[in-house]
Amino acid sequence: MENWIKVCELEDIPQLGARVVKGKSCEIALFREGDRIYALHDKCPHKGGPLSQGIVSKGRVTCPLHGMNIGLEDGRAISPDEGCTETFSVRIEEGAVYISL
Ligand code: FES
Repeated sequence: MENWIKVCELEDIPQLGARVVKGKSCEIALFREGDRIYALHDKCPHKGGPLSQGIVSKGRVTCPLHGMNIGLEDGRAISPDEGCTETFSVRIEEGAVYISL
């Protein structure tokens, strides 16, 4: 059974930016692109760079450390890079953002 937790208001997340919230066992980066919100473990699969400080564009975030591109939808590195970071389901209700932990 999913456990939905309210983490912030939608307006707290800047367009093409991120906000970091505390998960159960890790920090979670919430990204906003248009009307979409994505939630990923705030840790690059390469060497742990903070994805929340990366640049968001076209459904992906570029890690600020070495430039790996990570898909916001599935957390997978874009080929030819390899690796994957954990993603979390997101729900928006009455302007509030919930994630499933
Ligand atoms: S730590 Fe993210 S690309 Fe190296």
